[in-house]
Amino acid sequence: MNSILRSISSVFLLTAGIGFGASLPSEAFEKEVRVYSGRHYNTDRKVFKKFAKETGIRVRLIEATGISLIERLKREGSNSKADIILLVDAARISNAAKAGLLQPYRSAKLDKEVPKEYRDPLGRWYALTRRVRVMVVNPAKVEVDNIRSYADMAKPEFKGKVCLRKRNSPYNQSLVADQLVIRGEVATRKWLKGMIANVSQPYFPGDIGLTRAVANGVCGVGIVNHYYVARMLAGVNGKKDKELAKKVEVITPNPAHVNVSAGGIAKYSQNKNEAIKLLEYLASPNGSRGLAGPTFEHPLVGSNQAKEVRKFGPFKPDAVTIDQLGSFNSNAIKLMAKSGWQ
Ligand SMILES: [Fe+2]
Repeated sequence: MNSILRSISSVFLLTAGIGFGASLPSEAFEKEVRVYSGRHYNTDRKVFKKFAKETGIRVRLIEATGISLIERLKREGSNSKADIILLVDAARISNAAKAGLLQPYRSAKLDKEVPKEYRDPLGRWYALTRRVRVMVVNPAKVEVDNIRSYADMAKPEFKGKVCLRKRNSPYNQSLVADQLVIRGEVATRKWLKGMIANVSQPYFPGDIGLTRAVANGVCGVGIVNHYYVARMLAGVNGKKDKELAKKVEVITPNPAHVNVSAGGIAKYSQNKNEAIKLLEYLASPNGSRGLAGPTFEHPLVGSNQAKEVRKFGPFKPDAVTIDQLGSFNSNAIKLMAKSGWQ
């Protein structure tokens, strides 16, 4: 998107900001909190509505893609009306922190609800939901048993059968960062070289298109976030996708790369007390489950109990922290570019 288009869309999004709890008398909402969200799920509104009902704090939601949210916050500077910033992906939230868009805040409650590996050591952001990067496999195209780990996708037997999403996707950047932390640069470089040599299709703009391609036998194996397949299986995207999703098998590596959506308090928040309340609510078991349940993500603790997700089997997160994923992001992007990841 060019910058003119971007600014038009953010103006639109500001005016499209949604207030919740209109059914309650207006004096019940003297207090409000403004959320800038890069989470693109309608179901989040239910959670905000519940929060408004319980606390009397109205939530104003402004949704946009992660990149345009960050650019908008930078543009607005100290005039920004944002109180809470929600973003998907480790690199996005840690880049927002590095850009000075978030303010540190710690509380006993947040320290208790959000496991250490899922929060910023400096307290600028906290994970709220989790997602697992899994393999989708077409059993008619490849030997499913030969794919257990991300590393297996570099095997020569999968020549011409691997589909990948474009390099600019933060999800894959975080996966490569994860492998850099666990396996080091030499092994990661070798893995990328082999896996990329197996790609013969153009790179995909999204995980859903990639899952469809695997289902249709265009390729044999790809990497996606688990919830896209679950949503397709549940019929969220319609009948056609539901049938397609039934044709793929999901392989959850053990241990698995886990990414998050996360939130923090905006640097220039004017409703800090309300922002703290909302952040603590979203990080609580009820809040996290409320966000993660309908989107088929996993909450911070435990796992999504939808049958479509349970089908993928249990997952064991690897030892890489979200902070590490952020720190290794630029190395990951460089290595992906050098290796020919398009
Ligand atoms: Fe996503």
